[in-house]
Amino acid sequence: MENEQNFIKFDTFDYKILNYKVNNDLPFIERIRDFVVTPFINNLYLLRHTQSFFNVEDRLGGDAELTPKGIQDARKIAQYFTNKKLPLIFTSTLKRTIQMAKIIQQYQNNCRIISFDEFTEINAGIVEGMSYEEIRTKMPEIDQARKQNKYYYIYPHGEGYVSMESRIERGIKKVIYLSKHIDNIMIIGHRAVNRMILSYFVYKRQEDIPYIYVPIDGYYHIKINQNKKLFELKRFKL
Ligand code: G3H
Repeated sequence: MENEQNFIKFDTFDYKILNYKVNNDLPFIERIRDFVVTPFINNLYLLRHTQSFFNVEDRLGGDAELTPKGIQDARKIAQYFTNKKLPLIFTSTLKRTIQMAKIIQQYQNNCRIISFDEFTEINAGIVEGMSYEEIRTKMPEIDQARKQNKYYYIYPHGEGYVSMESRIERGIKKVIYLSKHIDNIMIIGHRAVNRMILSYFVYKRQEDIPYIYVPIDGYYHIKINQNKKLFELKRFKL
């Protein structure tokens, strides 16, 4: 390669240019460079699981199942997506996302569910299972410290947004790798996880990431190619 006049050496998994030598005035070279460093996402539908028993009590973490309302809403969402062929649905390994994916799967033909640990909700460590109100009253120092710098705050014995970065990135790369040539991909995640997934595709300041709006009755439609990047928040009528 080193003897060549022009070359671009790139990592197709990381969408990174490893070496770049262009001496001649080549046509379309910028376009080619953009092409190789852009991850192609035809249509990614990023959803949050519907209401779980922990959501009702505003509790963090855990592995609660969907409430009857959560199941009913998941059915409505499944109907909403019947006009789209979904060969793959990615979830976390927690019950609430898998349960929702199974409901959507019932309304699809040949739809496979793949669950990744990488998409598991933020681990709240010693406050797992507590409600935000309980944290405020019983452990105000945690509440205060987290408010100071939510992105960098790491729950004792747990995670923070910052420490989720590498696993979320690994999960996204697995999704992209497995979804090549697929028109529609769905990820059913969690609030903190979906914030991190969104921030992988669209630039956000770190301090804003933990506040990205991730409603239960909506989803993000993401589409990326070398010509355009689309991020659209769409709402369901639940
Ligand atoms: O259970 C975790 C929450 O969904 C994360 O949200 O980072 O705004 O507390 P939060």
